[in-house]
Amino acid sequence: MDGLKREDLKEEKLLEIEDRIENCKKCDLWKTRKNPVAGDGSANAKIMFIGEAPGFNEDEQGKPFVGKAGKIFDELLDSVNLKREDVYITNVLKCRPPQNRNPKESEIEACMPYLNRQIEAIKPKIICCLGTFAMSCIMKKFNIEKTQSISKIHGKVFHYRGLFDSIKIIPLYHPAVAVYDADMLNTLKKDFEVLAK
Ligand code: URA
Ligand code: SF4
Repeated sequence: MDGLKREDLKEEKLLEIEDRIENCKKCDLWKTRKNPVAGDGSANAKIMFIGEAPGFNEDEQGKPFVGKAGKIFDELLDSVNLKREDVYITNVLKCRPPQNRNPKESEIEACMPYLNRQIEAIKPKIICCLGTFAMSCIMKKFNIEKTQSISKIHGKVFHYRGLFDSIKIIPLYHPAVAVYDADMLNTLKKDFEVLAK
C-alpha cells in the first residue's frame, strides 16, 4: 500500500469514529452536551495529545481546547514549532460533564472505546497525556505501572512496546493549570521541549 492510501484509510477510520460519537448515547452526558467533541487535527499525526473532557467553550464549538486552556496549548505547540494540523488532539471523554465536574468511572468506561479506536487508527509514535485524568487512563491502558504523581513524572518519557509497535508516552501538566500561573507555564514549556526532538 502506498503512503497516500494509508493516509486516506486513517482519515476514513477517524471519520467513522467521529460519526459514532456524534450519535452516541452510551452514558448520560449526551443529555446535557450541546456538541460532542471527537477531536481535531491530522489523521496522520505522529503526536497525539489527550486531555480530560470538553469544557464550556469546547461544548459550544464542538472542538477540543478552544478556551483559555486551549490558548495556552496553542502557545505551547508554537514554542516547539508545531501546528494543530501537525498533531491530533482529543479528550478521554467526548462530551462535557455538567459544570465541568470530574468524569465518573462509568463515563470513562463507556467512552474509552472511542479513544482506543482513535489511537488504533492514528497509530501515533508519541502520546502526551494532559493532566492526571488522561495520565491515569493511558497508563492503565498500556499497562504501565504508575507509582508516582504527575508532579514527579511530568515530562518523563515512558516506553510501551507492543508486538508490532512501540509508543512513547509522556505525562504533562494540564494546560489549564498554567492559565494564571507563570511558573507552571514555564514548566510546561520546558517539558514540551522534549517534543522538538
Ligand atoms: N480541558 C480539557 O481537558 N479538554 C479540552 O478540550 C478543554 C479543556
Ligand atoms: Fe458517548 Fe462518550 Fe458522550 Fe458518553 S461521553 S455520550 S460515552 S461520546
